[in-house]
Amino acid sequence: METALALILFACVALSTGEYSPDLIPVPGGMSGTGFTTGYWDCCKPSCSWRENLRNTSADPVTSCAIDGDTVLDPGAMSNCGGGPSYMCSNQQPFVVNSTLAYGFTGASFTGKVDYQLCCGCVLLSFIGELSHKKMVVQVTNTGADAAVNQFDLALPGAGVGINNGCISQWNAPPDGWGKRYGGVDTEAECSQLPWQLQEGCRFRFEFMESVPVPKVNFVQVECPKEIVDRSHCNLK
Ligand SMILES: *[C@@H]1O[C@H](CO)[C@@H](O)[C@H](O)[C@H]1NC(C)=O
Ligand SMILES: *[C@@H]1O[C@H](CO)[C@@H](O)[C@H](O)[C@H]1NC(C)=O
Repeated sequence: METALALILFACVALSTGEYSPDLIPVPGGMSGTGFTTGYWDCCKPSCSWRENLRNTSADPVTSCAIDGDTVLDPGAMSNCGGGPSYMCSNQQPFVVNSTLAYGFTGASFTGKVDYQLCCGCVLLSFIGELSHKKMVVQVTNTGADAAVNQFDLALPGAGVGINNGCISQWNAPPDGWGKRYGGVDTEAECSQLPWQLQEGCRFRFEFMESVPVPKVNFVQVECPKEIVDRSHCNLK
């Protein structure tokens, strides 16, 4: 009798881990498919920060910030990567929601070229393979001329600066960025080379993402969680 009760109690505790489990709401008729992830953090103003790149040009674009990575600038300010004052905001790095779910921001292409169609839209990425116990919801904040079809270039500080290195003027980063220009730092310890504002997002790749390189994903479009919109101020309705 007591054993049975103990087993029932144990089962209940195991089922409810007590972790925050937000509702993730699929967008009917939204984007879906299979793709892969890479990472970047180039410190440049992301392209969905330009109002003219949004499907709804009356909506607020993704915030972009002054050199401190924190003060929000006018959306019309030029990118530092084009000689202007505007940078990626430091809060557009990934953050953990519970032990199996994180939120973040991403460059994306669904066509293999510069692709603004999902600027400010969100996708649920379900990792395939080694990381299949983890998921991320990411908002599309950027795109890139060097993108492949269904590539999600996650905004991960210390994962490589790529073509442009706006981090030199913002954070006095090395000429090729921290670590390698493509790929970034190789170990969690090297995240200490980054400014303190970006170190947590750098460690994310080694902790939440368990150092798995370029994980593949299944993706499905979902409504953007409030916590993401609170950071980017942009939402594709
Ligand atoms: C984290 O949240 C997601 C979404 O609500 C949920 O499916 C998942 O079970 C949660 N993870 C844990 C460990 O509770
Ligand atoms: C476009 O954005 C504006 C401002 O947020 C909003 O009032 C309007 O409903 C949006 N239009 C559409 C078609 O979503």
